Amino acid sequence: MGVGAKNKLSSQAERVDKQVDGALARAAAAARFTGKLGEYLAVLAPAGRKNATYLLVGTGPAKEFGEQEAQTFGAAAYRAIQSVDGTAAIVLADVPSGAPAKLDDIAAHLAYGARLRSYSYDKYKTGAAGTNNKNKQVGALTVMVRRPAMTRRRYMPLSAIAAGVEFSRNLVSEPSNVKSPKWMSTQCRKLSKLGVRVEVLGEAQMRKLGMHALLGVGQGSVRESQCVVMRWNGGKRGSNPLALVGKGVTFDTGGISIKPAGGMEDMIWDMGGAGAVIGTMHALAGRKAKANVVGVVGLTENMPDGNAQRPGDIVRSMSGQTIEVINTDAEGRLVLADMLWYTQKRFKPDAMIDLATLTGAVVVALGHEYAGLYANKDQLADRIISAGKAVGEKLWHLPLDPAYDKQINTPRADMKNVGPRWGGSITAAQFLQRFTNGLDWAHLDIAGVAWSDTDRPLLGKGATGFGVRALDRFIRDNYESK
Ligand code: BES
Ligand code: MN
Ligand code: ZN
Repeated sequence: MGVGAKNKLSSQAERVDKQVDGALARAAAAARFTGKLGEYLAVLAPAGRKNATYLLVGTGPAKEFGEQEAQTFGAAAYRAIQSVDGTAAIVLADVPSGAPAKLDDIAAHLAYGARLRSYSYDKYKTGAAGTNNKNKQVGALTVMVRRPAMTRRRYMPLSAIAAGVEFSRNLVSEPSNVKSPKWMSTQCRKLSKLGVRVEVLGEAQMRKLGMHALLGVGQGSVRESQCVVMRWNGGKRGSNPLALVGKGVTFDTGGISIKPAGGMEDMIWDMGGAGAVIGTMHALAGRKAKANVVGVVGLTENMPDGNAQRPGDIVRSMSGQTIEVINTDAEGRLVLADMLWYTQKRFKPDAMIDLATLTGAVVVALGHEYAGLYANKDQLADRIISAGKAVGEKLWHLPLDPAYDKQINTPRADMKNVGPRWGGSITAAQFLQRFTNGLDWAHLDIAGVAWSDTDRPLLGKGATGFGVRALDRFIRDNYESK
């Protein structure tokens, strides 16, 4: 039952409240429940009622109740069910009067929000005594609506997007003893069941193509590097695809420029960019998007070893440009250098968007709320930012400038892989730009947002799947409209 701002019960809730002699309103007041969006309260039903519990869930002000609010409401409803003993609940979807969205959309987005919130990574929890429990699964959440067929039709694409987000979150959450580059490429192959064409390149093929920047990163690992190409052709035959490119470092120790021990375990999610690309391809295929999109991910592991690459090494990238490796921990840009070059050369895409957990510097700049976005075309940047805004994935436009670019020049080669300490996310972006061959291109530095240590209303904690929803929306808005 929804409760709007200032503790006003919905007409539904009001009816029940009358039947129980005002017990709901009293319980709400006693618990200082105000009906804010995302707030919830479980109220024990008085004796003799057939329902065990009533769940009050806040909607916030009616006139602000749009699609994203409906998602947050659905997520809160899910949390409310988890908070009580039962495992099933019914939500009667109604539109608060004056709300901007229509009932079918609200109901579909409510279900979508609940679905996103229902995710938890319990694969390695046995539930043994004294250990953390698995998260409680809700058996059924029934959304009752006026036009079920219409609502279901609205929910279908959202369900496909949720499946893409879940796929991405599973990849990002997997520990790196299991998650090798090959394990990742095996996961990618699963997309062929959805109609995605999947192609995997191993080290021998990459060597032939001259991808020595990527191969240098993986050279200290006993596990073979991989490059995976995923193609979804749902658009006009022969029209140039949009390309998505992802950094897939399955574990980043830093290599010989080794990272400090504290927090190094975070580097299991250094493949978050690749995870976003794979999840997006999953979503697009799942909802049969009318667009041509190619996803390319570079998968490798950055380890220190007798065979590892050294600071001072000079590698020749696929583009022919040479790179002096000053710091082996600035490996993501080396991976992307070859992936971007390969992608533009082979697919002549309409535009390229890369995603990467690229720098700690972007976390210093933007924290864990916004991802950093760079682009060589303002219009492209604006479109990605507004797609992100529409789905709640926030992006902040940061600058590219030739003045930063010259900071990665070096006397020994065409460029070095790190600039000075300050503006580290920007010099990383400048580095990538040198491998775009002038194509329309955007780069999302998602180091601060691929993982959340704090509980988010829609996503909880852990892997966020950041990028899947924004990219899917960007494609829907800009590649499928015609
Ligand atoms: N994977 C890291 C960036 C990162 C940091 C991601 C924190 C997520 C959270 C990247 O490969 C890296 O090590 N970057 C270095 C670059 C530096 C050596 C120029 C960094 O940011 O410290
Ligand atoms: Mn690194
Ligand atoms: Zn890294």
